[in-house]
Amino acid sequence: MKETSVFDCSLIELDKHHHEKGNISIVENGIEIPFNIKRVYYLYDIPGGEDRGAHAHKELRQLIIAASGSFDIVLDDGKVKRTVTLNRPYIGLLVVPGIWRELVNFSSGAICMVLASEKYDENDYLRSYEEFINIKA
Ligand code: TYD
Repeated sequence: MKETSVFDCSLIELDKHHHEKGNISIVENGIEIPFNIKRVYYLYDIPGGEDRGAHAHKELRQLIIAASGSFDIVLDDGKVKRTVTLNRPYIGLLVVPGIWRELVNFSSGAICMVLASEKYDENDYLRSYEEFINIKA
């Protein structure tokens, strides 16, 4: 995680299967994404002006999808910051370990769905930006 950069985080466009009754996109372990999903969680009912995230992970890999609405993800590897807007339910952002991320500018009713490579483990979090910067230096 020490060596990862914001440019290791990539947008993944999922197939969007058109159907007259609506669309469907599919994510399968090791096919559309380079890891096995052990956990799914989603953020919703986010109050206006609220930010989420503000942490990094040591090992966890994630695919973050705007399942509804839109938001921005500010990625930071300690040297470079990059902002990615998610606003399509068939596009996910792959976030590698060692990236500080903040989720901002949620639209009303936005749903942020996260597919994660590991079970929840508080020890995998870096929640101090100072500690994060020291590790990445
Ligand atoms: P956190 O990851 O800090 O939220 P966000 O990055 O979305 O702002 O998690 C918020 C709270 O939820 C925190 O107390 C830990 C808890 N939590 C779990 O118990 N299990 C989980 O899988 C996740 C993602 C969070």
